[in-house]
Amino acid sequence: MAEPYAIDVHLGPADLEAAMREDVLRGLTATPKRLPPKWHYDPHGSALFDEITRLPEYYLTRCERAILGAHAGDIAREAQAGTLIELGSGTSAKTRLLLSAMAAAGTLERFVPFDVDEATLRAAAAAVVAEYPGVAVHAVVGDFERHLHLLPGGGTRMVAFLGSTIGNLDPAVRARFLADLSDTLVGGDRLLLGVDLVKAPERILAAYDDPGGITAAFSRNVLRVLNDRLGADFDPDAFDHVARWDAEHEWVDIRLRSQRAQVARVAALDLEVRFAAGEDVHTEIAAKFRRDRIAGELRGRGLEVERWWTDPGEGFGMALARRI
Ligand code: AVJ
Repeated sequence: MAEPYAIDVHLGPADLEAAMREDVLRGLTATPKRLPPKWHYDPHGSALFDEITRLPEYYLTRCERAILGAHAGDIAREAQAGTLIELGSGTSAKTRLLLSAMAAAGTLERFVPFDVDEATLRAAAAAVVAEYPGVAVHAVVGDFERHLHLLPGGGTRMVAFLGSTIGNLDPAVRARFLADLSDTLVGGDRLLLGVDLVKAPERILAAYDDPGGITAAFSRNVLRVLNDRLGADFDPDAFDHVARWDAEHEWVDIRLRSQRAQVARVAALDLEVRFAAGEDVHTEIAAKFRRDRIAGELRGRGLEVERWWTDPGEGFGMALARRI
């Protein structure tokens, strides 16, 4: 049956598996060991992240939603965009706030959800088709580190990259991402960027190490993903979740720490991975931002911040930028 939306697939299951193998082989044979955060998000990991967003300690989602609740109308009027492109799944309440504000401003024509996971994307596309009659939905399966140049053009577009997901990218990857993004923006196109702000380290760390252990389960889940997808035999419970504030870089540094000396096998890679007691696997950074620094980084890529909002507690910031 024909779907009531268009979908471009730039990344199939075989590409994802190849990318995972490469990341895991590289990361687990490196010193120190590392695994990139993008592999946390299988269905179980996505469900855990969803739980994280509802934790009292995880202020990010609530703060960002408060900003959109208060200012989505300003954003829509300022951007005058016909197309909302959302990097990330696009199933959230935040997407609805933007779409509804664009509809109220009389500009909304098209929604382009962009994600690595086709199933997530199809669900998002179908939901928006049902909820916003008359809006064209054009889903794109791709990796935002590689496929930004394949985003559909036409009209004035607003690219939303929310949730402070940009904080997961290490500085070199972030620079390349912003350069690619800047290259894809033309004319009056806008970037809407949500970033978590530097604040008291205790408040930040609490968000990444909740007492109920949901974040720890989310962290360890990457090992379950490798067990599932690459036939590995990691014992996730033999690793501790360690989150620490790196004051120099102003990011949260997240690791899995091996509780004891142990060996794991990754069958699909024919790889044996040895851990010393107390050895870390680096799994994530969550960089925090300051208004001037992110504005400077964007300016360095030809993007001017025209508007900036925060929630009343200044937990989170949102920039609306355009090409200069
Ligand atoms: C989805 C990348 C924004 O860094 O805050 C939450 C992921 N990791 N708790 C973040 C995450 C641990 C989250 N992002």
